[in-house]
Amino acid sequence: MKKTFLFVALAIFSLMGKVRADEGMWLPMFVERLNYVDMQKMGLQLTPEELYSINNSSLKDAIVGLSEGATPRGFFCTGEIVSQNSLMFTNHHCGYNAIQKLSTVEHDYLTDGFWAKDFSEELPAEGISASFLVRMEDVTEQVLSVVKEGMTWEERNAAIKAKSTELEAAASEDGKYNPIISAFFEGNEYYMFVYRVYTDVRLVGTPPSSIGKFGGDTDNWMWPRHTGDFSIFRVYADVEGNPAPYSPDNKPLTPKHHLPISLDGIQQDDFTMIWGFPGSTERYITSYGIDYNVESFYPTIHEIFKLQTDIMDEFMQKDASVNIMYADDKAGLANTWKNFEGQMLMLRKNKVAETKADLETMFTQWINADPGRVEKYGNVLNTLAENYELVSAITPVIYYPNYAGITGPVANAAMFSSYIKAYKDANSKKDEKGEKKTEEQMAVDKAKLAQIEETYKAINVDAMFAETYKPLEDKTFIEMLKLCYNTFDAEVNPEFYNLVEKKYKGDVVALANDILENSIFATPESIKAFIEKPNMKAAEKDLAYVVCKMMIKQINDNRTAYNAAMQTISENNHLFVKGLREFYAATQPEKDLYPDANSSLRMSYGSVQDYQPADAISYDYICTANGIVEKYVPGDYEFDVPQRLLDLIEARDFGQYADENGELVVCFLSTNDITGGNSGSPIMNGKGELIGLAFDGNWEAMSGDINFEPRLQRTINVDARYVLFVIDKFAGATNLIEELTIVKSEPEVVNEECTMNNE
Ligand code: ARG
Repeated sequence: MKKTFLFVALAIFSLMGKVRADEGMWLPMFVERLNYVDMQKMGLQLTPEELYSINNSSLKDAIVGLSEGATPRGFFCTGEIVSQNSLMFTNHHCGYNAIQKLSTVEHDYLTDGFWAKDFSEELPAEGISASFLVRMEDVTEQVLSVVKEGMTWEERNAAIKAKSTELEAAASEDGKYNPIISAFFEGNEYYMFVYRVYTDVRLVGTPPSSIGKFGGDTDNWMWPRHTGDFSIFRVYADVEGNPAPYSPDNKPLTPKHHLPISLDGIQQDDFTMIWGFPGSTERYITSYGIDYNVESFYPTIHEIFKLQTDIMDEFMQKDASVNIMYADDKAGLANTWKNFEGQMLMLRKNKVAETKADLETMFTQWINADPGRVEKYGNVLNTLAENYELVSAITPVIYYPNYAGITGPVANAAMFSSYIKAYKDANSKKDEKGEKKTEEQMAVDKAKLAQIEETYKAINVDAMFAETYKPLEDKTFIEMLKLCYNTFDAEVNPEFYNLVEKKYKGDVVALANDILENSIFATPESIKAFIEKPNMKAAEKDLAYVVCKMMIKQINDNRTAYNAAMQTISENNHLFVKGLREFYAATQPEKDLYPDANSSLRMSYGSVQDYQPADAISYDYICTANGIVEKYVPGDYEFDVPQRLLDLIEARDFGQYADENGELVVCFLSTNDITGGNSGSPIMNGKGELIGLAFDGNWEAMSGDINFEPRLQRTINVDARYVLFVIDKFAGATNLIEELTIVKSEPEVVNEECTMNNE
């Protein structure tokens, strides 16, 4: 699950008893204390030291976080190292953006796939860097030492930030390492993670989208699934093995550890563990936070993103070059709105708010039993309820103009607003309060304008419009403006409403078209002409600029109230989690708590399992290549299949990758607890060998980021044998197969006498 969306973070657990083995995203540094005995019972054969060690090579050294820049923050996906030369597996949808950027209509790697025959053919991938974790440590005490009695929430956070920056700088050893400090349990604990970030990452291989994205958005978030969701990269370093920007002289990094790949396959109940970088969960959110998500935040984003994807779809299917241009944007938007749709549905169906409300009742009873607790936590839930209600009302008012109103020419006008304002200031004799400016002030404003002018002269206008398709952009702009107009009545934005009503007789499309036809900010030519010779009088009256100011006013009029409520929510979530931990320690001391996901390295363990999504329906835990043929729709943009794959399946030419029944397993299910950011994570057996790559969650448990559903929640994994089959049999990339460490256990020797006796 790729991390493509933002969350207001907080969270809770299932009500009673010890956390089940399959629930939980655990910090590897505590594995010995919290999880090891459990894992061993379930089938783990490695020692704690083989899992996580800072002195010796261990499994953690083969797990990398993938981020866009040279920073270990906000990993969008996970990768794993699978060879001595740092070959790295991740999902196809994780490499998608990089593959898109390398694709042209002539070399369309998205459509046709790509396989490098040797190092020299590997392609530098933009926007993927690989972070290796060197160590992690608890820094709670140092960080919280700066928090003083009587500080406001903002002051507290500012002090924590300053302290964290100082500690990070000290740990970087002059830039050798990239350390980051992250908050856990809503700011009740702090940990430092020290990374090395490698930015020279190259594309080595990818199947065509008809394998890597088979089933498209229709099958996304669903089981049964037949997607070969993998792509292959390699991490490069300078000759000393240090991170270095791309250079032809760089060499493949020699990793501390790489994962062997098992051909043994899986059986129901087999132990599984997944290591990776889950982005965010809200397991400690209150019922009030859930109501906010379901009633305000999700529906707002859902409506905007869905409309945008529908428009993209329409144009992408007609034109291969447009398809390449928008492929990754569309996948991200579609992935998010479908996720929110599923959450809205399943949070209700799985009665998650009710579960949280029950916990809140017990928590309140516990608080009320002690005056000291009442003083500390007595107001927390009420305050949350009140403030979530406030932001519920404000969220659409801010989000629609932000995500829908400020698009196309209006967004371009927004880019120029500081220029227009600086010009106005420099040419006005009065200051903002309406008082006459001093000579000195006049000179300052003039200098400011001159400086801003320089910046604007340097704007690359062609880059602003590069990789965009005008008919698609225009339609989006029109529909987005329509959405803003139709969503709000006159009270929310009287200026915009009146403009449409009076000047355009209620026809918002006419306004949008007027902008597209006449605004300075609508075309690259007119923007260039404006930069060349700015006519500021015209710019100030420009319709796109006028609408931009109206949209920004709508946001600004509500921003203060929104920010204040959000701050209060964050402060009270902090208190809630603090109280909840005391509550659990007092009432269920045997319960181990795990922190919400926050892009730090986690381990989750469970087993291979089927599930029953509804009465009379039962889902198997594996699916096979036969299902690819069943789903096949010739020429369809989501369900077409390469002829070569069809031929191999028909000939049942699966080689050593077939299971014991001669079938080719494509994907399988496990009970591991993962979320967005875990995409591409290795799923491993008890020996730490790769058996697949995690890539998705299932529809019936879309509420799982808020409450883990043991009966329903599954991770969808692409089977390692299918990955190898595609590399080997489909693509013929035997150079890569040779590079891997492929292992197969000796068949167990069956003692016949014993078997007979047993019978
Ligand atoms: N649901 C997957 C995830 O969140 C992403 C799958 C991408 N595929 C797609 N059709 N958009 O990681």
